[in-house]
Amino acid sequence: MKPLLIGGTWVETSHAVPNINPSDTNDVIDTYAEGGRAETEQAIAAATAAFSNWAQSPVQQRHDVLKFIGDELMARRSEIGTLLAREEGKILAEAIAETERAARLFDFFAGEALRLSGEVVPSVRPGVSVEMTREPVGPVGIITPWNFPIAIPAWKVAPALCYGNTVVLKPAELVPGCAWALAEIVSRSGLPDGVFNLVMGPGRVVGQTILDAPQIRALSFTGSTGTGRIVAEASLRHNRKMQLEMGGKNPLVVLDDADLDVATDAALNGAFFSTGQRCTASSRLIVTEGIHNRFVEALIEKTRSLKVGPALDASSQMGPVVDQTQMDQDVDFIASARRDGANLRAGGGHVRCDTPGFFLEPTLFTDTSSEMRINREEIFGPVATVQRAQDYEEALSLANGTEFGLTAGICTTSLKHATHFKRNAQAGMVMVNLPTAGVDYHVPFGGTKRSSFGPREQGRYAAEFFTTVKTAYCA
Ligand code: UN1
Repeated sequence: MKPLLIGGTWVETSHAVPNINPSDTNDVIDTYAEGGRAETEQAIAAATAAFSNWAQSPVQQRHDVLKFIGDELMARRSEIGTLLAREEGKILAEAIAETERAARLFDFFAGEALRLSGEVVPSVRPGVSVEMTREPVGPVGIITPWNFPIAIPAWKVAPALCYGNTVVLKPAELVPGCAWALAEIVSRSGLPDGVFNLVMGPGRVVGQTILDAPQIRALSFTGSTGTGRIVAEASLRHNRKMQLEMGGKNPLVVLDDADLDVATDAALNGAFFSTGQRCTASSRLIVTEGIHNRFVEALIEKTRSLKVGPALDASSQMGPVVDQTQMDQDVDFIASARRDGANLRAGGGHVRCDTPGFFLEPTLFTDTSSEMRINREEIFGPVATVQRAQDYEEALSLANGTEFGLTAGICTTSLKHATHFKRNAQAGMVMVNLPTAGVDYHVPFGGTKRSSFGPREQGRYAAEFFTTVKTAYCA
């Protein structure tokens, strides 16, 4: 059993949960301790006790710890990438790239630790000066999803530690392996005991205990819109800072003047890479009349030729769906689209492989409309739709006609339309001639409308969430 990490001690529990490979459900990767309320409370107490020392820690120490973690993740990227592909199901190349991303996130924040700064300004009163400094917030709760098992823990944990906070991490139940590997590295990094704690287990127990704890002063969450609401309501009661990254229903607009190869590659990547299980996935392809038929034909061809298979098989281009629950949801969306009259042009069925796993064909619907459920709710699977638009103006209005606002993309060779779209797309991130998914690690990440709440993640903007500003007056 892989244990919890509480206050610098490895803790086994009475219940071990198997971690199952979605590419081969006969393959049990390992078993992981399931924490309960008591263990979570101990982890919160450890993070609380460790806070004041870590908050005052020298920036050299913070840098060295973060660099150690980043260096080891980078050195072990194939091994940890293999574990990631095995437990989550994205193909090995994507899993290794994700591990590299996690390494670079730690590296970035190792550097940021050395660049912490404040401001000194003259007061409006004579002889008085005013200092503005950033202070850590306190013990932080971090709740992460299954779709980026190493990168999302990294992009929350690294800034939390960089700015002097202590952490209780609760990873998604489906992917304890990468979080555990990260914790094992952290435990040897020189970080004082209790600064970082790992508790695996169900959201309704471990997550809820974190939410109920008044000691947790900030909560960073990535996951579903429904759980995000629970996190928000609980956090409000404790006057706690919160950062929520939730769903997306990201549009990719393709205009008549787009380069057909650029547009179909962006759509294919955005819709189907990582099995479409990204909150940044391009799920709505909005295509203007003049290119519509050519685009659809070319995309169908590329979609049908994508090879679906086990994540660790070098020939696979798309891995399995993460589990049976997600598969049922994807299949339900496909059925609803057919009922609503959408035209199924590629995929829609299961794929048989040598191993028992959750393999679904990349699926494309055309002739869809904004009213259809498939264009309104997040699917989180390899399913995309095409909507027809008369012109750019209609395409923009369809793109913005959603309650989500994470990313929005456009494929065009027109500077005028690209510029207008950058300014008018209602999304936190806009991509021109690029897939809507696949973001850099050193710049802000986050959305608008129902997709996100609170300060941005990543890059220097992460300081907005992981610090609180103090204004000190001195005569
Ligand atoms: C990416 O598209 O590179 O959960 C990252 C998600 C996002 C991360 C997407 N928070 O899918």
